[in-house]
Amino acid sequence: MNNLFASIMGWVDSRLPVTEAYEKHMSKYYAPKNFNFWYFFGVLSMVMLVNQILTGVWLTMQFTPSAEAAFASVEYIMRDVEWGWLIRYMHSTGATFFFIAVYLHMMRAILYGSYQKPRELIWIFGMLIYLALMAEAFMGYVLPWGQMSYWGAQVIISLFSVMPYGDVLTEWIRGDFLISGATLNRFFALHVVAVPLVILGLVVVHLLALHEVGSNNPDGVDIKKLKDENGKPLDGVPFHPYYTVHDLVGIVVFLMVFCTVLFFFPEGNGFMLEYANFEPANGLKTPAHIAPVWYFGAFYAILRAVPDKLFGVIAMGAAIAVLFVLPWLDRSPVRSWRYKGWASKLYIVIFGFNFVLLTWLGTQPATVTLTKVAQVASVIYFGFFAFLLIAPKIEKTKPVPERVTGGH
Ligand code: HEM
Repeated sequence: MNNLFASIMGWVDSRLPVTEAYEKHMSKYYAPKNFNFWYFFGVLSMVMLVNQILTGVWLTMQFTPSAEAAFASVEYIMRDVEWGWLIRYMHSTGATFFFIAVYLHMMRAILYGSYQKPRELIWIFGMLIYLALMAEAFMGYVLPWGQMSYWGAQVIISLFSVMPYGDVLTEWIRGDFLISGATLNRFFALHVVAVPLVILGLVVVHLLALHEVGSNNPDGVDIKKLKDENGKPLDGVPFHPYYTVHDLVGIVVFLMVFCTVLFFFPEGNGFMLEYANFEPANGLKTPAHIAPVWYFGAFYAILRAVPDKLFGVIAMGAAIAVLFVLPWLDRSPVRSWRYKGWASKLYIVIFGFNFVLLTWLGTQPATVTLTKVAQVASVIYFGFFAFLLIAPKIEKTKPVPERVTGGH
């Protein structure tokens, strides 16, 4: 049996380097041995990506992408298609868990300076994934053609009207003078085919870039510096089987939480499936409170915090753009927050909680008080990046150890 397998693999390998790729990316890819909780979220993002693609394919089999039939076809999936409710909730709850995983994955990079040299490209590809993911989620939310699908699209597409040639641009995006079946149709094509392909391609280059330079770790130590007599990093372990087995534990726990929400709170109290979206789209009836789904909340809160629409859009764009240049803003000589000064540590924690606050604010009605809070939170958000620039001048860092700490 072994001989047969070896000869088949030999045949394949001389035509396509499967074993070589397997060794390079799995069994001989040395990952630092001190990965912690935060390092689960890359693989968990991948699990959710697979979940979205699989459930998406099955939803597409029963969904009708037309303004007349979309809403009813979703109801049909929920009530009549066998296990349709499960597939749909796996997709809608999956979107939330995908974003939870991606946000925690990004926070990990901030904690451990994983975007710093030589991992800038990994971060840039990550940011491109994040942009594509936001576009994907936005267009997906329009498809059920409920009230919030329609009015959410109205709010977001109208943001483009502040740009030069805004009217032409918004008409081009909608494919009509107002949001209509034509808009729904193109969003369907983009959501189901184009953007998923882009995301998949970006994930591949994200991982290729990672495997080129090697993973960072909670200490920010370069494990390639110290190697044994065989040239293997002293602080590294082969990704397979060590991290494949280790990651399985994280996947099982994450899926248990996912299933709990999926089966018991699929609407997430209106945060994941908004109540207004159980009513069919009606272009003549504006809902009292138009709010985005939670994962857009932070940037929506920054948009609304600025009283002027044009400057609001600029602030929102800047909030995303500034993340792209993060590797060049953080000039600290150390990567991990473990070895940064106390002010840096404090601001990183504040930045994390402030982002959660902004997220919540974005889902709430813009009262006078909440708008004031959003303004302060927006300043704290941008302040973080300004602080990164000056931090190396005002604080001392601790010496980074030669070898990683912890790990087994
Ligand atoms: C579909 C979404 C994504 C997937 C499937 C994904 C997947 C992964 C995987 C599997 C790893 C290696 C394991 C790990 O370090 O956790 C990784 C590393 C990394 N990712 Fe992502 N990622 C995604 C989105 C993002 C985003 C949005 C960013 C940031 C903007 C990002 C930044 C990084 C960085 C900096 C690393 C290197 C971390 C280190 O070595 O410490 N990723 N990604």
